[in-house]
Amino acid sequence: MSKRDGHSAQKLDGLALSATMRDDIRAAITQHVAEGGQVPGLAVLLVGSDPASAVYVRNKSKACEHTGIHSRIVRLPATISSADLVAEVDRLNADASIHGILVQLPLPPHISTQTVLERIAVAKDVDGFNAMNIGRLVLRDPGIRPCTPRGVMALLHHHGISTRGLHAVVVGASNIVGRPMALELLLDGATVTICHRFTRELEQHVRQADLLVSAVGRTGIVDADWLRDGAVVVDIAMNRAPDGSLCGDLDAVVVQQKASWYTPVPGGVGPMTVTMLLLNTMQAAGISLPAASN
Ligand code: GUN
Repeated sequence: MSKRDGHSAQKLDGLALSATMRDDIRAAITQHVAEGGQVPGLAVLLVGSDPASAVYVRNKSKACEHTGIHSRIVRLPATISSADLVAEVDRLNADASIHGILVQLPLPPHISTQTVLERIAVAKDVDGFNAMNIGRLVLRDPGIRPCTPRGVMALLHHHGISTRGLHAVVVGASNIVGRPMALELLLDGATVTICHRFTRELEQHVRQADLLVSAVGRTGIVDADWLRDGAVVVDIAMNRAPDGSLCGDLDAVVVQQKASWYTPVPGGVGPMTVTMLLLNTMQAAGISLPAASN
């Protein structure tokens, strides 16, 4: 199936699906509270003053407000000690009004990220990053699932794309995106190749992909000319072009000439990540999901 005949690729519109899902989430929470249930609460720990993190946290907080989730942003200085940060997590673990806890990453280099993430109660780990939640995903019995990979799967499934039997190539092997993304795809029945900084012949792997997921965070590593005609392309990155605009890892014009389906940047995976955080928080608060949102 050649897609070389112009802009024939179909968009995986994360903004549109997110809007529908957030309305569903809001309806479920409204009903839960009207029936006497507790308002779900999300605490976000923001350490230091990284501008990108501040924007992400603000977006998460606004999305919470829209859906009726109470959000509490805990701002902490970059100089905080590991012990004091862990003590903050302990306080939130013990707070019955808080159902989800998220530590915005990256943390300052003097803090052990995994030590802090492991301290979050498993049932409140709405990022799904601690060893128990990742381990459950490995064992095909997911608990709370990492938001970005969960959002990608929701976007694919909503558009009727099953990855069963597809050769999925994931570029990037980070703990928060690439690795759990590969696990989600494996769970869905894909044959998965994970590429990373030590991978030789990246081009040869990308050329084999029925589904390419790029989570590099830098343009110029994955060349869209390598794509198979008709591939499904999920670009998870949020990079700044030299003119200041947002862009993904791949050249969007070439992607749209070659792919069957693609995620735009912005408006693809980004909004889905936040929507999955809302869904995870709702789940952590014991509120049942709208049937269409799983
Ligand atoms: N920083 C960049 N992405 C994420 C994310 O998904 N969760 C958290 N906690 N921090 C991030």
